[in-house]
Amino acid sequence: MKLISFEGFEYSGKSTQIKLLQNYFRSNKIKSTFTREPGGNKQLEKIRKIILQSDFDNLSLILFFFASRFSLLSTMKKDDLVVFDRFFDSTYAYQKITSKDKSLIINLINHIDRKFIPTITFYFKINKKTLLQRKMMRGQKNYFDKKYASHFTRIQSNYDEIAKMKIGKRKFITIDASKSKEIIHEEIVDHLKRCKLIK
Ligand code: TYD
Repeated sequence: MKLISFEGFEYSGKSTQIKLLQNYFRSNKIKSTFTREPGGNKQLEKIRKIILQSDFDNLSLILFFFASRFSLLSTMKKDDLVVFDRFFDSTYAYQKITSKDKSLIINLINHIDRKFIPTITFYFKINKKTLLQRKMMRGQKNYFDKKYASHFTRIQSNYDEIAKMKIGKRKFITIDASKSKEIIHEEIVDHLKRCKLIK
C-alpha cells in the first residue's frame, strides 16, 4: 500500500488539487482510491457529519479523529495507491494547543503501522492575504471552518512544526498555495514521479 496525503487550511486549494489529481489518474489509467478524513466510508461519513457540526472539547476531538483514522486504515486493501484528503497532520495542526496535546498526538502517530505512513504529504501553505481574498470571493464554509478561522496563525505554525519532524520515511512537501493551480498540479505530478509512486 502507498499513501499520499493532502493538507492545508481552508481556501488553500487542497480540494481543487485533489480533483485535478483524480482526473490525471483517471486519464492515465492509474489505479487508486481517493478518501477523506474524517470519513471515508459509509459509517464514518455519518460520524463526520455529526462531528463537524458539534462542539466537542479538544481532547475528545483528538481521540475521535484518530479513532476514525485507525478504523478506516484497518479496512484498506494491500496494494492500493490511496490518496487522503487530510491525515494525521490535520490533527496536529488543528488540535495541538498544549504540550500535553502534542505528546498525545505524537504518541498516536507512533501507533500507526509503518505501512500506513504516507510516502509523501503535500501541504498547501496559504498566506493571509490570499486567504482573505479567497474568503471574500467564496464566503465561509462549514461550522468547523468557522470555528478554526481565527486560529490561522496557530494552525499554520503547527503545520510548519510537523513539516520538520521525521515520521518514518515520508516526504513533506510545502507548496506555496498562491501559485496557479496548473503549476501546482504539475509540481505534484512531478514529485509523484520522482518518488516512483507513478510512472
Ligand atoms: P475538509 O475535509 O477540508 O472539509 P471542507 O473542504 O468542507 O472544509 O475539513 C474538514 C474540517 O475538519 C476542517 O475544518 C479541518 C477539520 N479537521 C480537524 O480539525 N482535525 C483533523 O484531524 C481532521 C482530519 C480534520
